[in-house]
Amino acid sequence: MSRNMAIELARVTEAAALAASLHAGNGDKEMVDQAAVDAMRRTLQEIDELEGLVVIGEGEKDAAPMLYNGEVIGSGPLKFDIAVDPIDGTTLMSKGLAGAIAVIAMSTRGSMNVPVEVFYMDKIAVGPAAKDAIDINLSKTENLQRIAKALGKPINEVTVVVLDRPRHAELLQEIRDAGARVKLISDGDVAAGIQASLPGSEIDVLMGIGGTPEGVIVAAAMRCTGGAIQCKPWPRDDAEREKCIAMGSLDKVYTTEDLCGGEDVYFSATGATTGEMLKGVNVRAEGASTHTVVMSSHSGTIRWIESTHNFTRLDKMPPK
Ligand code: FBP
Repeated sequence: MSRNMAIELARVTEAAALAASLHAGNGDKEMVDQAAVDAMRRTLQEIDELEGLVVIGEGEKDAAPMLYNGEVIGSGPLKFDIAVDPIDGTTLMSKGLAGAIAVIAMSTRGSMNVPVEVFYMDKIAVGPAAKDAIDINLSKTENLQRIAKALGKPINEVTVVVLDRPRHAELLQEIRDAGARVKLISDGDVAAGIQASLPGSEIDVLMGIGGTPEGVIVAAAMRCTGGAIQCKPWPRDDAEREKCIAMGSLDKVYTTEDLCGGEDVYFSATGATTGEMLKGVNVRAEGASTHTVVMSSHSGTIRWIESTHNFTRLDKMPPK
């Protein structure tokens, strides 16, 4: 275990958010993502103690430097699996909209399990108080009733975040019929999942179908906050369905620990554009400020870090 690793990860997501913010609102998702990836890669390489294996990166290896799946970063003594989402909410960022974040999670080597057979998973995520109340195999209504009971409040005070997608029409109807409150988001179910598990948050539950890698990253955060996520594969087409059948995962429920089971888990997210959870990068004449949440599973400590970055001095520092 390295207690410093959490703080090192804060530097990584800060760098990604700062780099991406240069392109905020430019309408180019790829450019936003590439800037964040390059910054993450550079700062990860600066962590002397680390030998990180990228299990969730930016796709497969090709000529361009990128955090590709299977890439090994560093040759230090501490061996971790690494999952990155350099910007969760690239569309938000490219439009200059609220809620884009730079995210990384690390866990003991071999402990992150990515259900590669599917692009999407159906998810339900809650905070510590309701973690034993959820069962993705039950109806959404039953889950909401159980969550309300666990939280000790009426169902009409339970707030559920859902990605605003046509595929969620039935889900939304059921949540509304059950009497719970709905909060729709246009993107970014990582931040929403984390918010559901943070003390004092206005969000109680994340429900619905979102990206598979994002589900694993939320699981890493849950290992730190004490919350829980359950996911089931949601095949997009027959080819993915066949893959699930071949792997025996069509009806499998992936729990928090199935997705991220390591002894030591570290997580960091930095706001790229201002959202409900994190302030975005604020660029000034001589530098910028960032807002980051950093967590560790071992201690359960959740740190909120506000940093100011002095570009003039940083420019004078020799590269490591
Ligand atoms: P990206 O920023 O990587 O595009 O992801 C944004 C996101 O909203 C995720 O938070 C979510 O899991 C996924 O996209 C949902 O996918 P889709 O937009 O295809 O419904």
